[in-house]
Amino acid sequence: MRRFLIAGNWKMNCGPNETAALLEELKKETPVISENVDVLVCPPFVSLSMSVNHLHDTDIAVGAQNFHFEDNGAYTGEISATMLEESGCNYVIIGHSERREYFGETDEGVNAKTKKALLHKLVPVVCVGESLAQRKDGVHFDLVKNQVTAALEGISSDDVLDVVIAYEPIWAIGTGETASPEQAQEMHAHIRNTIESLYDSETADVIRILYGGSMKPGNAEELLQQNDVDGGLIGGASLDAKSFSQIISAAEKIS
Ligand code: PGA
Repeated sequence: MRRFLIAGNWKMNCGPNETAALLEELKKETPVISENVDVLVCPPFVSLSMSVNHLHDTDIAVGAQNFHFEDNGAYTGEISATMLEESGCNYVIIGHSERREYFGETDEGVNAKTKKALLHKLVPVVCVGESLAQRKDGVHFDLVKNQVTAALEGISSDDVLDVVIAYEPIWAIGTGETASPEQAQEMHAHIRNTIESLYDSETADVIRILYGGSMKPGNAEELLQQNDVDGGLIGGASLDAKSFSQIISAAEKIS
């Protein structure tokens, strides 16, 4: 039986006031969450602690969108995994394409952060995915395979079971354009095969692979029905409590 993960990536939206309002709405709208579906919201740093407090009596987990791989020190403006742990976070998004594009994140940095997150018992949600130009050039399968391989470098077969991979084709993020269910399934199967070649088939079966890129109520069910799609990393639609809840319901229906 599959256990879905429905994760909201709020990006640079919602300071503490807006977060409080959105979480209240979400609490009202969210259907009863079964053990087959995990639900996660990832607000900005300044809203994390209050999100943990707001959601302590619910089944909704809280995660961060980024962190620095050092524990502390002279890194002005940065936040460490220790701090996230202390704030009550259980997950952290790593290597989102916006961080790779605008903040120079590299595969090596993603690997360092993935290892550090695991050390701190934060579930790493590692993002991979190709640009439109890379897909048109036909290099998308190799690129994603390399991203996954680099992210998991040096991670043991025990630890890797806690890693979540999010496939997010850059051309589908925030564009309203979604990968077709077939395109998503094809890449997810490729990612699972990559994990199998790095570890073994049991490991590959267990690791959750999320789809991200304009997932919304209208397309969630079709995407989540694909064999290798174990959930969604949702940007825009996660900022609307009704939409996010409808996606959770779609996962509940299929699981
Ligand atoms: P989107 O964003 O759902 O707005 O396309 C997804 C993401 O970037 O994680």
